[in-house]
Amino acid sequence: MQQSPTSRAVLVTGASRGIGRAIALAFAARGDRVAVHFGGSRERAEAVLAELPGEGHVLVQADLADAEAVGSMVDEAAAGLGGLHVLVNNAGVFTAHPPLETDYADWQAAWQQTLAVNLLGPANATFRALPHLIAAGGGAVVNVSSRGAFRGEPNNPAYGASKAGLNAFGQSMALALAPHGISVGTVAPGFVQTEMAREVLDGPGGDAVRAQSPYGRVARPEEVASAVLWLASPEAAFSTGAIIDVNGASYLRS
Ligand SMILES: NC(=O)c1ccc[n+]([C@@H]2O[C@H](COP(=O)([O-])OP(=O)(O)OC[C@H]3O[C@@H](n4cnc5c(N)ncnc54)[C@H](OP(=O)(O)O)[C@@H]3O)[C@@H](O)[C@H]2O)c1
Repeated sequence: MQQSPTSRAVLVTGASRGIGRAIALAFAARGDRVAVHFGGSRERAEAVLAELPGEGHVLVQADLADAEAVGSMVDEAAAGLGGLHVLVNNAGVFTAHPPLETDYADWQAAWQQTLAVNLLGPANATFRALPHLIAAGGGAVVNVSSRGAFRGEPNNPAYGASKAGLNAFGQSMALALAPHGISVGTVAPGFVQTEMAREVLDGPGGDAVRAQSPYGRVARPEEVASAVLWLASPEAAFSTGAIIDVNGASYLRS
């Protein structure tokens, strides 16, 4: 198989749908080879794989809450792609557990699952990607965080905490990995039109959520993918440690 000299090997977690699918398509459209990771949605991941332009893409599976499975999945992706230049930690869960309406058992389950998938998953995937990124002579890690890390998540406090943790993780790793030519960037979207946000966006509060932005809408998955693509580019290397908002000015911070 003939590969473009600038074709990178890219692992995108949670690429079976939503934002991850858009990220996989964006990398493939610029000539990169993509490992399409999924958790439970095999058929949908196969459909994403089939729609990617270019060649050399592979499918990999792991429950991100399973540290062993994550490690094997990263190695499998690198083996299938012939190395690894970019890791995008995109997969995540958004499980409601309103503090005053949730029993203690459900509260604990929500916290454990959310932190396991949204924070420990990316930490483990990054750890296991490091030997491959270093062997490739450097590269990039991009984490998909959330506006909720800054704005708060009253019905999903574990989610907000997991994303705040992911922001801090990305900043620490930016410092640790720059000497190895690896940049670490973070994207913090507000609401995005995907299945994760469907209940909120299609519910009685949907219009109020759209009105949070002066554009009067939420983000499209492609708009998040565009920021991820930039953060993973060599041109963005000196922006390592940055957290880019993609929220249509629905929440401004300085
Ligand atoms: N949508 C929003 O409004 C919004 C806003 C801010 C940030 N984000 C963040 O953007 C990222 C993508 O969200 P999305 O809206 O595209 O969500 P989505 O449509 O619900 O897709 C979630 C993806 O994560 C994967 N995933 C979930 N749990 C997993 C697990 N235990 N193991 C492996 N994979 C797992 C799913 O894979 P399978 O289906 O194959 O299991 C799926 O590919 C998440 O990190 C989310 O927190 C989303």
